[in-house]
Amino acid sequence: MPERRPYVAANWKMHKTSDQATDFVKRLLGRLPEPAMRSVDVVICPPFTSLRATADAARGSRLRVAGQNMHQAESGAYTGEVSAAMIEDAGATSVVLGHSERRQLFGETDEALAVKVPAALAAGLEPILCVGETEDERDAGRMEEVLERQIRADLANVGNVQLDRVVIAYEPVWAIGTGRTATPEQAEEAIRFIRGLLAGRDGAVAERVRILYGGSVKPENADELMARPQIDGALVGGASLDPDDFAGIVETAAVA
Ligand code: 13P
Repeated sequence: MPERRPYVAANWKMHKTSDQATDFVKRLLGRLPEPAMRSVDVVICPPFTSLRATADAARGSRLRVAGQNMHQAESGAYTGEVSAAMIEDAGATSVVLGHSERRQLFGETDEALAVKVPAALAAGLEPILCVGETEDERDAGRMEEVLERQIRADLANVGNVQLDRVVIAYEPVWAIGTGRTATPEQAEEAIRFIRGLLAGRDGAVAERVRILYGGSVKPENADELMARPQIDGALVGGASLDPDDFAGIVETAAVA
């Protein structure tokens, strides 16, 4: 089985100005030992307005930067949106797509994601595709159906060669910002299911794709999650706003 390099991303959501982002990166880099940075992909996802400052502060380190959303078109009359090229221009290598907050609060659809994911790849950005069920869907026994629908639709226009470059984050909506973390068993079960869906397309690629868990990850619960072989890392919200907490999670991933 191929070794999957751990991947830990900080989704800051709508937090941190440029100055705050710069300060965070300095403190994080001061705190994280070089071996941890060498063995884990560490990615910061700031708001668009802080992308450039974050990328500048990270220059010379292995730290990478991602947008939190992207429009699929190259340019056009889309007030308030940004393109893949603009995100790259600001210093990012990656972009979060399909976060549940975008789906629930801003009308992000699987149809749009089916275009956004290949558009990001075509522009050279690494997509971090988020999928996950709501509490009602889980309670109704529909978790697998929801994950299958999202994975099939969102990756419908991505060929198997390109699939290798996609990172997937399993983020059950009921665990986001609620303090209610999925148990390691629940997270692993869902991630194994997602990997099985990818294996239906290409078994070797499915073994290489990184699949992260997200939802109330903290330094205190990161080790039991990262210890699971199916869980390749974390997409961290609230606990990523503090450099010490986030560094603790990265270090856990480095030794897991
Ligand atoms: P919390 O870690 O705050 O639950 O957020 C998770 C998340 O949405 C990361 O994208």
